[in-house]
Amino acid sequence: MSSVEVQTPQQEPAGSLIPTLPGAHYTDPAVFELEQKRIFQREWIAVARGADLPEPGGFRTVDVGGESVLVVRGRDRALRAFLNVCRHRGARLCVEETGSVRRSLQCPYHAWTYGLDGALIAAPNLNSMHDVDRGERGLIAVALREWLGTVWVCLADEPPSFAETVQAVVAGRLGDDETIDRWAVGDLVVGRRITYEVKANWKLIVENFMECYHCATIHPELTEVLPEFADGYAAQYYVGHGAEFGEDVAGFTIDGQAGFEKLGGVDDNHDRRYYAITVNPQVFINLVPDHVVFHRMFPMAVDRTIVECDWLYAKDVVDSGVDVSKSVELFHRVNQQDFDACERCQPAMSSKAYAAGGVLVPSEHHIGEFRDWVAAAIAN
Ligand code: FES
Ligand code: FE
Repeated sequence: MSSVEVQTPQQEPAGSLIPTLPGAHYTDPAVFELEQKRIFQREWIAVARGADLPEPGGFRTVDVGGESVLVVRGRDRALRAFLNVCRHRGARLCVEETGSVRRSLQCPYHAWTYGLDGALIAAPNLNSMHDVDRGERGLIAVALREWLGTVWVCLADEPPSFAETVQAVVAGRLGDDETIDRWAVGDLVVGRRITYEVKANWKLIVENFMECYHCATIHPELTEVLPEFADGYAAQYYVGHGAEFGEDVAGFTIDGQAGFEKLGGVDDNHDRRYYAITVNPQVFINLVPDHVVFHRMFPMAVDRTIVECDWLYAKDVVDSGVDVSKSVELFHRVNQQDFDACERCQPAMSSKAYAAGGVLVPSEHHIGEFRDWVAAAIAN
């Protein structure tokens, strides 16, 4: 344990107010460092859509747990991930966020060259350097999984079970393993991507997403479409429950007008409903009948978080070139309202008034589980 003191608040009886994390957990760079090491370097982290890298040689760089990770599609079309660090003297191999190479990755410093599978394949004068074992000097591999059309990486030497820490969370929220398949998220196509820079700690963003106590105050458009949200209970409060569209609402759009055909697998039980899923530590999945909104968060500093948000539609919707802006606008507005609220809280986290933290009201009690998960994760 470092010098950071991790406080685990005492659980109070149901119905009463329970404490949040203390303010310092949202402002102290030492806590942030611990979270990077003990959460973001240990858990499965969603970093991109597989379709972002459609061709062999396509790459993407992402920041995970304080490391730069390079995701690249090989000539065999498989995706692989590596630490973005040259094994010679440590230069960053790729500095662009996205790009493509032909057959290999060449370090710009002394031209060590790696295959798309990470193997060291060439270096100036390599044949005369008998000490350099090509087999041992390849790029350091990072574990990678593809699920829901999403690329997930894990920096741990022994990654936790993907089934238990990711898939079971989605199944637990929806009630069973199969329901998520109704949206066929892996086959959907990005209709719009918006990247937000939020001047707030990543945990404020998760905690905000988990509750709907704020919905009546800050989300007028959303509560118009989902009237039950005005009661303050979030969609993820009950297993298997999706918030129902209002009677006069035709679709999940900014003005409640009809959206697109519901996705093929969505049955009557799941039609006209909104489901929200939080996968710790950095994914939010929002399911509505005709599209999916998928958030990936990247904590960059204790008070700064990048949120990449994809609006995913059936391929024929995107291919047709039809205007998706009415459905994009609804959740874009929700995002802006939520992130404004998080930015409003961030400066107060260092106030004397918040040194011992705040409180969770009964409709926010499930945030206490996230708080305990974070506290336990950084404690060892
Ligand atoms: Fe990459 Fe020297 S640091 S080739
Ligand atoms: Fe919200």
